[in-house]
Amino acid sequence: MLCFQWVMLLHRCFLPRVWASSVRLDGKTVIITGANTGIGKETARDLAKRGARVILACRDVEKAEAARKELVEDSGNPNIVAKEMDLSDTKSIKEFADIINTEEKQLNILINNAGIMMCPYLKTADGFEMQFGVNHLGHFLLTYLLLDLLKRSAPARIVNVASVAHTWGSIRLDDINSEKSYAPRRAYGQSKLANILFTRSLAKRLKGTGVTVYSLHPGVVRSDLWRNLSKPIQAAVKILTPFSKSTTQGAQTSIYCSVEPQLERESGGYYSDCAPAICSREASDDEMAQKLWELSCHMLDINWD
Ligand SMILES: NC(=O)c1ccc[n+]([C@@H]2O[C@H](COP(=O)([O-])OP(=O)(O)OC[C@H]3O[C@@H](n4cnc5c(N)ncnc54)[C@H](OP(=O)(O)O)[C@@H]3O)[C@@H](O)[C@H]2O)c1
Repeated sequence: MLCFQWVMLLHRCFLPRVWASSVRLDGKTVIITGANTGIGKETARDLAKRGARVILACRDVEKAEAARKELVEDSGNPNIVAKEMDLSDTKSIKEFADIINTEEKQLNILINNAGIMMCPYLKTADGFEMQFGVNHLGHFLLTYLLLDLLKRSAPARIVNVASVAHTWGSIRLDDINSEKSYAPRRAYGQSKLANILFTRSLAKRLKGTGVTVYSLHPGVVRSDLWRNLSKPIQAAVKILTPFSKSTTQGAQTSIYCSVEPQLERESGGYYSDCAPAICSREASDDEMAQKLWELSCHMLDINWD
């Protein structure tokens, strides 16, 4: 099994699947969370070059403004805006969604990209474990608050950036905030598994609305995501650099899920390397997806059937 994984890894490194598309997004509006750096920024760069109005939803206004300036200059598209939104605070998410719902006429693509990996034990402003709170609950709430606008803008897409790391964890219904025991890697895995289960559940609920939803693994990408890991592990990631992707390469599956015309007929699936991919058995468990949905609604105090 390990041998097979290595063969697949080497195959992807040396014979990566090439996908390209000339689809234009003139007149369309896109929101990308965590777009001031990494995969999110490169996704924003590409979609801006296709003519979209791009809204960078970021927690750090200064970093977001610097990214906005760079992207406007590089893409030649002046229609890029930076707005503040901290996914670790439901108040900030609600304020951001209020502004979008008031000011924007449409929303065609929502890319839930922002993420945090393997941080020390921390809690969000609302008392959720940080990785579950930011990576899953924050995006769950944001999607809920923007859903009417997405429906009115159909055809529209929601893209959830998950990870192959969904195999590292399970949904711990009895200790969702890791209060009894915390393992950073397991908590990251739980949050990324939640991204895929959310995508499956949401696709069912959105049937017939013209809004489709996708989850994806971007690859192992040389970004700031590794910042919470120990120095030796960060060094190991650098040594493995030839087997990892640049942020531009890492953005390709997000772009594919956002624009590929053939995906308009599909919803709820998991993608990697710009193609459908296989996720774990746990990530295909519809019963658990429903339990997670109910728990997420309960934690966020929302009614979303
Ligand atoms: N890199 C990989 O190998 C890899 C592999 C699989 C999946 N992924 C997924 O890909 C996505 C993008 O990651 P990346 O590699 O591009 O990492 P990154 O370079 O660290 O970017 C993450 C982005 O998320 C933002 N963010 C973090 N906490 C936030 C919060 N509370 N509110 C709003 N924004 C917040 C960060 O903002 P700041 O700059 O202000 O911190 C940053 O803009 C993540 O969902 C990650 O789980 C990455």
